[in-house]
Amino acid sequence: MSHDLFEAARAAMGFAYAPYSKFPVGAAIRADDGKVYAGANIENISFPQGWCAEPTAIGAMIMGGAKKIVEIAVIAEKLPLCPPCGGCRQKIAEFASPSTRIYLCDETGVKETMTMSELLPHSFKTEVIG
Ligand code: THU
Repeated sequence: MSHDLFEAARAAMGFAYAPYSKFPVGAAIRADDGKVYAGANIENISFPQGWCAEPTAIGAMIMGGAKKIVEIAVIAEKLPLCPPCGGCRQKIAEFASPSTRIYLCDETGVKETMTMSELLPHSFKTEVIG
């Protein structure tokens, strides 16, 4: 059931701190412990110091004790089907598997589903580091 993840992402978007871009984003993760962890983008007057909704949700997941992303929903009120940015794709991939589902939403619900391997083919990984 992905609708609860959509609702969690939409609720998280309500906490976005985006006074500079005025582009609120919400993300919600269902983790391997069955719980939902959500986050919003948090900007900064020193623009590069701000960060996306996805890492806020990943931080909540890690601090909740969970280890893996089973599925993740993303929503932006000003962009239906807002895809995670390039950096966020790599951040999600760190805790995902190739079959992890990514849900892109509009204001009514999940509108597009893709897998991690579709969202980020050829992700960076190497045996040299681990
Ligand atoms: N943003 C996200 O939160 N997630 C994405 O994947 C795309 C971009 C945020 C960052 C910034 O606060 C605002 O959207 C405009 O780029």
